[in-house]
Amino acid sequence: MITGHAGIILGTSNMDEAKRFISDFGLQEKHADKNSVTYLLEEGSTVTLKSSDDPSLPPPLGTDVGVREICWGVDTQDALDELEANLSRDLEVSKDSDGSISFIDPSGIATQIKVFQRTPVLYCPEPLNAPDAIRRLGTRRRWRRRAHPKVIQHVVYVVDDALEAARFYMHRLNFRLTDINRNVGYFLRAEGISEHHSIFFLNKGSVPGSETPRPDHVSFGVEDIDEMMAGAMHMQRSGWKKTMGPGRHRIGSALFYYLKTPFGIEFEYDTDNDHLDDHWIPHEWETRFGMINWVAGDLPPFWREEPEWEYKAVPADHPIYEPYPVKLREANSESAGTGKSKT
Ligand SMILES: [Fe+2]
Repeated sequence: MITGHAGIILGTSNMDEAKRFISDFGLQEKHADKNSVTYLLEEGSTVTLKSSDDPSLPPPLGTDVGVREICWGVDTQDALDELEANLSRDLEVSKDSDGSISFIDPSGIATQIKVFQRTPVLYCPEPLNAPDAIRRLGTRRRWRRRAHPKVIQHVVYVVDDALEAARFYMHRLNFRLTDINRNVGYFLRAEGISEHHSIFFLNKGSVPGSETPRPDHVSFGVEDIDEMMAGAMHMQRSGWKKTMGPGRHRIGSALFYYLKTPFGIEFEYDTDNDHLDDHWIPHEWETRFGMINWVAGDLPPFWREEPEWEYKAVPADHPIYEPYPVKLREANSESAGTGKSKT
């Protein structure tokens, strides 16, 4: 099963600025050569930075900067072999010298999957005090200068058809639907991880700035709001601009702080997510109600009027749950076809 993010590869048109941003953001450089820089997170995942015209990069989704490839980790070689056999039925899947497989998913996202043992990270968030609910007696909270994210939390893409993108991940890669933001997109969790979402697909044209398919943002996990805001302050002092935050999403409950990167996408500090198992019941949320619980500073224009407080369990007859159409290569179509045809 897929157990989370093994890494991402980023493309940039300005290597020096991108390196400065990522270093200020708090990722730890592991390796550098003349073509790339690799950052290692404590969970063992990597962020690799390359020049956007590097010929080793796969085809871009909409733009040659930002996330150029996402790499998922699976727990065993057998699981990888099974995925390879399944995906090879209707996608071009290549096998790399390290045993990983690569393909372009139906939304155009360059994807790699490899065997990857995620390292549990050591977090010890401090207990919170409230009147007559004292969880931290006689102890100050820790102070931080910087944030140092330890995990890749999720990656977000704008795609042509978020429903079809979500269906591919659910039916072909065993992702779990966790929630739906009505008219906007689908939150999905990799099977082997409890984070509310590992990936989010945003419908093209559903929110301002999402007019064309592209990578939107990458979220990195920090321990708590204090680490998130220490990171935010350091980024401001270093001259980087926030796009929104701090705030708390309603879907997934995470605290957030978004920053504009010099390579097209946003980076997000993220903490205090909902964690789920397969007992979770996905809900469909009114668009604006689901996005934000609260946000600091001036309210964004779309949030000035209070949204309708409305959400409901995703009904069993929602199109997300329809049998997945398997578009097989013609040579195999008669023997291996299952499910209903899309076209
Ligand atoms: Fe996010």
